[in-house]
Amino acid sequence: MKTVISRDPSEAARSVARSIAEFIVQNPGSLMCFAAGDTPLSAFAELIKLQDSGEVDLSSVFYVGLDEWVGLGRETRGSCVQVMFDSFYDPAHIPADHVRVFDGLCVDTEAEKARIVDWIQEHGGKIDFTLLGIGMNGHIGFNEPYAGLPEGCIVIGLDDTTKAVSPKYFDRPLPVERGIGVGAGELKKARKILLMATGAHKADIVRKTVLDAPSPSVPASLLADHPDIAIYLDEAAASSL
Ligand code: F6R
Repeated sequence: MKTVISRDPSEAARSVARSIAEFIVQNPGSLMCFAAGDTPLSAFAELIKLQDSGEVDLSSVFYVGLDEWVGLGRETRGSCVQVMFDSFYDPAHIPADHVRVFDGLCVDTEAEKARIVDWIQEHGGKIDFTLLGIGMNGHIGFNEPYAGLPEGCIVIGLDDTTKAVSPKYFDRPLPVERGIGVGAGELKKARKILLMATGAHKADIVRKTVLDAPSPSVPASLLADHPDIAIYLDEAAASSL
């Protein structure tokens, strides 16, 4: 796994944004899949700056949502869809018909999974580029420890660590139990994978992802043998490497 270490989170965000912009310029029409969560927010802001300065047209590609908390919709502050629209799709002026995201309020999760798989099929049958964060338990999207490498989409009971971390996203207590998202095996089919982690609190899980043998207990490590994967870190997240 290629490792790119930046001095601080701002520099990491600029590097990630440049890498994404370069891919989009070279591969218009691609299907992109970006994580929500806190880590990529500054990279989204940098990417929008690159668009504003004419270096990339973010509407020249298509987007698929990575995941959502089952039971939460866009009106809930901290839902993945709220974060993605407010921090990226809307400020980047992405046309509505270039985006398909999971509806966490759906009544039929199987139909919702199929709706996302259909979108992937309509765009060449696989995701081209994915930007992923890493959870404190090594999860990617909602692919929790021991979920393996499922293709297509998943509905999954959330790991205790994911539930324990979740209050940081919400402005009121929300009892999240399940997630819906793209499976790790589907993500691994992407042409290019970019992992991003910043902060000393991620140093231990980054070490397990990068240095330890791949293990189902650390989902991010299962991507390590992908032919085009890079992990972008700041010095704090890289401090145990
Ligand atoms: C969210 C997602 C999650 C996060 C991970 C890290 O869409 O895919 O896997 O990337 O939990 O979250 P942060 O960035 O908040 O530390």
